[in-house]
Amino acid sequence: MGLSKTNRETIEQVCARYGHRADALIEILHDVQRAHACVSDEAARIIAGSLNISRAEIQGVRSFYADFSTTPRAPQRIRLCRAEACQAVGADQLAAELDRAGTPHEAVYCLGNCALGPAALIGERLVGRATPDRLAAASAGSGQDD
Ligand code: FES
Repeated sequence: MGLSKTNRETIEQVCARYGHRADALIEILHDVQRAHACVSDEAARIIAGSLNISRAEIQGVRSFYADFSTTPRAPQRIRLCRAEACQAVGADQLAAELDRAGTPHEAVYCLGNCALGPAALIGERLVGRATPDRLAAASAGSGQDD
């Protein structure tokens, strides 16, 4: 199944946001991965056309970095620390935001990352100073660990 017109336009907009610059390829791939949970072959074709580079160049970058996948990744389990140190810096509010957004999560008690709370695990990846955006980025395979 191909991309919808809206998804194709979204990818074009990402490329335009970076001025259709080939040197912004990694940032573009991260944005597309985050938005679509993958960088499909069709997305790679659109990006190649927009940046005026070959699909082979995109394939080289896409396959080199583990952050990128060619098919949508299943959502990863979110385990949010609800212990005292993380509660003190907003874990309860974060849990409420995730609930409002319909994002499933489960409570755990201390991930050993108390100084960088609220702390969460996305799959096996530890995320500090967690926010909905940072959790979404980590879930999509990008973002920074703390
Ligand atoms: S209290 Fe949350 S990581 Fe320790």
